[in-house]
Amino acid sequence: DFGRIADDQGLKVFAVGGFVRDLLLGEPNLDLDIVVEGDGIAFAEAFSREQTCRVRSHEKFGTAVIVFPDGFKVDVASTRVEYYLEPAALPTVETASLKLDLYRRDFTINTLAIVLNSARFGELLDYFGGLRDLREKAIRVLHNLSFVEDPTRVFRAVRFEQRLGFTIGKQTEHLIRSAVRMGFLDRIGGPRLLNEIIHILEEPRPYPAIARLEELELIKFVHPALDIAGDTDEILERAMRALNWYELLYTGQPCHGWMVYFLCLIRDLDEDAVNGICERLAIPARHRPLFTEQRRLAQGVLQRLQAFARRKLKRPQNSEIHRWLLPLDTEVLLYLMARLENEEARSWISLFVTRLRDQKTLLSGDDLKSLGVPPGPRYREILDELLQAQLDGKVATREQELEFVAR
Ligand code: CTP
Repeated sequence: DFGRIADDQGLKVFAVGGFVRDLLLGEPNLDLDIVVEGDGIAFAEAFSREQTCRVRSHEKFGTAVIVFPDGFKVDVASTRVEYYLEPAALPTVETASLKLDLYRRDFTINTLAIVLNSARFGELLDYFGGLRDLREKAIRVLHNLSFVEDPTRVFRAVRFEQRLGFTIGKQTEHLIRSAVRMGFLDRIGGPRLLNEIIHILEEPRPYPAIARLEELELIKFVHPALDIAGDTDEILERAMRALNWYELLYTGQPCHGWMVYFLCLIRDLDEDAVNGICERLAIPARHRPLFTEQRRLAQGVLQRLQAFARRKLKRPQNSEIHRWLLPLDTEVLLYLMARLENEEARSWISLFVTRLRDQKTLLSGDDLKSLGVPPGPRYREILDELLQAQLDGKVATREQELEFVAR
């Protein structure tokens, strides 16, 4: 219906960008981006008068988001050129034609457009050789200043290359290396840099992209102390398996996958370096404890678990596992799974996540009261001891718990 409503409005409307790229590649993509030649906001509002959906507009950028009841979203842009007043600054927007709009994009494969108006519906527009590069599986910029205009594209190039199994073109790689050498990347603000890192770490398989960043000397750029030497590949691979495993548990408790990988990447750094990275990436205050206190706790627990795993004979009691792991966030637990080479040690963590973490005593404070235990801090202690006994299989029924308390 986009086409028909655009026809009625006398506007030209196109599907563009990642959606068209993925359509031609046969990859799933649920984010539809459309570009309107003319006023995109007016178009989105006309659309919402005829269809069941909501519209959020951003006057300043001439953009709107159409949100359908099932959550499907369509980003609507007005044709525009973005003028970058200085490298790495946010663009200012001015109206122009589709071709100019596409010209300001990052890579040729993202410049393809499909006509949505009825008369020419489905016609592919390829102004910058995007189709050729899709066939050649190449990531290429449109012009030599692309990375100077927007240095975050360096990270996007690696992300697309690894996700799609493409190769960054020779000239484009050369431009990346110059941008790195000339220090253009220092101009990327913390939040934008973090955003790129998160995108990369949230790809289904981040390791190859991380290795490629290293090869392009981009990891050092994030922080000089960061490197991916040694067993990073194995650790990230185990992190991926731990995350996939956790996702299949459907606990309903969200988990930030990027944080698990990030903990793996900074595993050998000292606290000064970690603080430096948090500053550089402007990691929001609410996430910092994970990389400071939680990380510190995790290193202690890791050593303990490794020591137990080495001794082989004796495994820790469930109550011990519970006590060590309870203060840790899910992200840190999965990080520990990634760090442990020993399969049995990993199984202690999975046991904690699937069973021990939510275990509760059958008796409550009220029960203690009716047993005549005088109220006070003793309650907490008794219930804690009871829980430990239960975790270690010493009590299982209510009767056994009552007996335990009586003793
Ligand atoms: N874009 C750009 N430079 C950037 C970011 C985005 O030129 N630094 C352009 C790209 O051409 C892209 C479009 O804006 O096609 C939309 O950006 P985004 O949604 O990030 O890209 P997708 O290609 O949809 O990526 P993904 O598949 O990861 O969602």
